[in-house]
Amino acid sequence: MGWEALREAVRSCAACGLCRARKQAVFGVGDESAPWLFIGEGPGADEDEQGEPFVGQSGRLLDSMLAAIGLERGREVYIANVVKCRPPGNRTPTPEEAGACAAFLDRQIELIRPRLIVALGKAAAMRLLGVEASLASLRGRVHRYRDTPLVVTYHPSYFLRTPHEKGKGWEDLVFARRTMRELAA
Ligand code: URA
Repeated sequence: MGWEALREAVRSCAACGLCRARKQAVFGVGDESAPWLFIGEGPGADEDEQGEPFVGQSGRLLDSMLAAIGLERGREVYIANVVKCRPPGNRTPTPEEAGACAAFLDRQIELIRPRLIVALGKAAAMRLLGVEASLASLRGRVHRYRDTPLVVTYHPSYFLRTPHEKGKGWEDLVFARRTMRELAA
């Protein structure tokens, strides 16, 4: 499936119950051949309204995180989510919902062919790595999703709730940038 067919399949998907309450499915945004792919959990209220990932409060924080390592939404960066439809009340998607949406994210990754994936939070890390582990134990190492290197950091909403932990996010971003430089060398 190419981009257009994939976009249409996501738009009209009814593979799980999340489609019932959504205003719209949120496909993903950015450079379709980006070296950087950031993957979050699922759309919140603002994303459901606007149809773009990470446009609310955690999105503003994600944009500053990107800027901190010299990146910008849409320029060498693609942003997607594990599930494309908003879980009611912004709860974490269930493994069944993540599974129902898996082929869409997998195909996005195949089409983008990123050099590095950054998993934002535990839901993304678990979905892509297929492991049940604490986020803390997954940080600071290069994992693989199929053949693509993948690093893990906390979800931006975690830093909104616990601002004193932001230093860990900075460490993870520096690690991601160093990993990318090594991959590009
Ligand atoms: N949180 C996510 O994980 N994704 C979004 O798109 C917005 C908030």
